[in-house]
Amino acid sequence: MSANIIYDLIVIGGGPGGYVAAIRAAQLGLKVLCVDKRKSYGGTCLNVGCIPSKNLLHSSFLYEQSKNNLKNYGISVEGSITLDLEKMMINKDDSVRKLTNGILSLFKKNKVEHKNGLAKIISDSQIEVSGERLKTKNILVATGSKVASIPNINIDEKNIVSSTGALEFKKVPKKLAVIGGGYIGLELGSVWNRLGSDVTVLEFSSSIVPTMDTDTADIFYKTLKKQGINFLLDTKVLSAKLEKNKVILSCFNLKDSKDIVSEYDKVLVAVGRTPFTDGLGIEDIGINISKKGAIIVNENFETNIKGIYAIGDVTEGPMLAHKASAEGHVFAEKIIGNKPEVNYGTIPAVIYTEPEVAWVGPTEKELLKKKIPYKKGVFPFSANARGKTTGEAIGNIKVISHQKTDRVLAVHIVGAHAGELVGQAVTAIEAGFSAEDIALTCHAHPTLSESMKEAASLASIGKTLHF
Ligand code: NAI
Repeated sequence: MSANIIYDLIVIGGGPGGYVAAIRAAQLGLKVLCVDKRKSYGGTCLNVGCIPSKNLLHSSFLYEQSKNNLKNYGISVEGSITLDLEKMMINKDDSVRKLTNGILSLFKKNKVEHKNGLAKIISDSQIEVSGERLKTKNILVATGSKVASIPNINIDEKNIVSSTGALEFKKVPKKLAVIGGGYIGLELGSVWNRLGSDVTVLEFSSSIVPTMDTDTADIFYKTLKKQGINFLLDTKVLSAKLEKNKVILSCFNLKDSKDIVSEYDKVLVAVGRTPFTDGLGIEDIGINISKKGAIIVNENFETNIKGIYAIGDVTEGPMLAHKASAEGHVFAEKIIGNKPEVNYGTIPAVIYTEPEVAWVGPTEKELLKKKIPYKKGVFPFSANARGKTTGEAIGNIKVISHQKTDRVLAVHIVGAHAGELVGQAVTAIEAGFSAEDIALTCHAHPTLSESMKEAASLASIGKTLHF
């Protein structure tokens, strides 16, 4: 690569934000280079996040179903069902490899150049990677986030692990503590619970996933408890020490003001993530950051330095792969003069447990706080023909629409395939549908999606056909 090349755009970070921005910008005619510190592109999401965890969620679900549920469908398996964890991990690594290689193929197809190394921003038109200076007209920072830690707890990725270590256990831990009842804690807690660990989730708040709609969280919590996950809510983890290969956790229960000391084989720390800007040199060139270390950008994703932009986890807002991708796509359009916007009101959230939980739009609590008048319809999957047929009858869909206009404001789902079902709700809200629009739309029968139609009918006119 010649030092004389001037790129139109250098993207630092090849995760779901950065690689999408790079590909779209190249499709729009720009000369683009994407730099990543990892050899395999796709960032946290593809390498050590969404993809490997979803693979293990699927494999562990199949294992658990084979052990406990197949007999209910008249299927008996000769001999006992056994776990080959090594094979399961190979399968997981395979899915990661296929997808990360896929990004390199897409780069090739779209003529995006790529370079491996930790990038440092030298100025608004120059970066340095592995000792080489590269010139560019624009820089996009999409460096993502890193695991947040707790004081007095040292993540060694062996006994005390982050999500990265919890995707690599060589043996099923007997007793696993999960610090944090958020997305990662519940997804990976579910994986190891299904594979045989005695899992305890220690959560600081009085409910799991505090950002979730309360009714949904209630069903979710009860179902996870039934599956065997133990919960210690209102519990602050204070410190951890290693003793004879065991981890001793010292906690404080905020409700009873009691100290709790307990012993585990492994501990997963899942208390959130923080923006990753290590080695970027943002302080040297004076890019403004927030108190939490996020790069501050304007509505065009531009930092306080002209020509330097940022998207995704390294900026403020929810740390979600699809939010970063949406920003990457819109950024690329904007930089060539097009004018799309990211609608931050229609970014869905999905937790890929069983049941899944998915939602878009505000919770009832948030609507009450903002004094927005609303009505709601709740339809249980136990009254849905497909749910009854397949045994996927846990949970419900809640459609919330505006009291006066009936415009759909939010949809909250807890149940099988919620992550797929929420797509319809996102489209409806984006398009400005009323609940009645959904209620009068023909949905295939028998599908779980008919529950959306029925919940919308309940929200719109207070009645529906099957409930
Ligand atoms: P999170 O923010 O979802 O949950 C962290 C939890 O830890 C909170 O409920 C918090 O109250 C609790 N906590 C904090 N300090 C604690 C302490 N000392 N003791 C006990 N509890 C404590 O963070 P998580 O699960 O680590 O996920 C990180 C990010 O990754 C999230 O922003 C999430 O959006 C993203 N992610 C998204 C996924 C998805 O879309 N399905 C899957 C996995 C991660």
